[in-house]
Amino acid sequence: MASSPSLPLLLLFLFAAIAIVSSDEPKENMTHLHFYLHVYYGGPNATTVTVVSPPGNSTFGSIGVGNNILKEGPEPSSMLIGRTNDLTAQASIESPSYLYMLNFVFTAGEYNGSSIAIVGREVLGMTSERTIVGGTGMFRMARGYTVSTLISSTGTTELFLVSEYDAYIYH
Ligand SMILES: *[C@@H]1O[C@H](CO)[C@@H](O)[C@H](O)[C@H]1NC(C)=O
Ligand SMILES: *[C@@H]1O[C@H](CO)[C@@H](O)[C@H](O)[C@H]1NC(C)=O
Ligand SMILES: *[C@@H]1O[C@H](CO)[C@@H](O)[C@H](O)[C@H]1NC(C)=O
Ligand SMILES: *[C@@H]1O[C@H](CO)[C@@H](O)[C@H](O)[C@H]1NC(C)=O
Repeated sequence: MASSPSLPLLLLFLFAAIAIVSSDEPKENMTHLHFYLHVYYGGPNATTVTVVSPPGNSTFGSIGVGNNILKEGPEPSSMLIGRTNDLTAQASIESPSYLYMLNFVFTAGEYNGSSIAIVGREVLGMTSERTIVGGTGMFRMARGYTVSTLISSTGTTELFLVSEYDAYIYH
């Protein structure tokens, strides 16, 4: 009479199989990046332009496109680490608040060629928290958040704006 395999033996095989599968899973990393976003608005070297100006006096419905500059520090002379491709809409009837869709494309160092995609809100003058919804290259399958604050604004018709960014990226 053939004896059937015992239950403890079956469980042992099952746990061994689970252990093999889970050890194949890559470990998730958390990367914290600290950098500065430089925006030139107006003038011949603008990096952000308003492409839709709504009728009337309200800015509600205005849309902007940006190809802004990511730098290691707040000074214009500091090292370039990437560029953005971004789309911004003033999407609030009362006090202005903006819907931001941004791609940060890194062009230097170990993240050269990698990017993160960010969606979120900005209320002028406030610290903004936005969602990292994905990434490419080193940041494939990314999720996380950015925290950013405008730290300087110079000029009148031609503005130079600098924001400080912290990005917390799980990938
Ligand atoms: C996490 O970082 C380690 C060490 O830098 C690397 O070997 C590994 O591939 C990374 N894992 C993922 C999922 O990026
Ligand atoms: C615009 O960029 C050009 C080329 O880099 C530079 O020569 C010029 O001074 C810049 N103009 C302004 C107003 O910043
Ligand atoms: C736009 O602003 C002007 C000047 O401040 C004002 O006279 C006018 O009534 C405003 N129009 C609307 C639609 O709010
Ligand atoms: C980034 O990568 C591109 C394409 O691989 C290369 O041409 C470029 O020199 C790199 N830049 C830096 C600063 O390493």
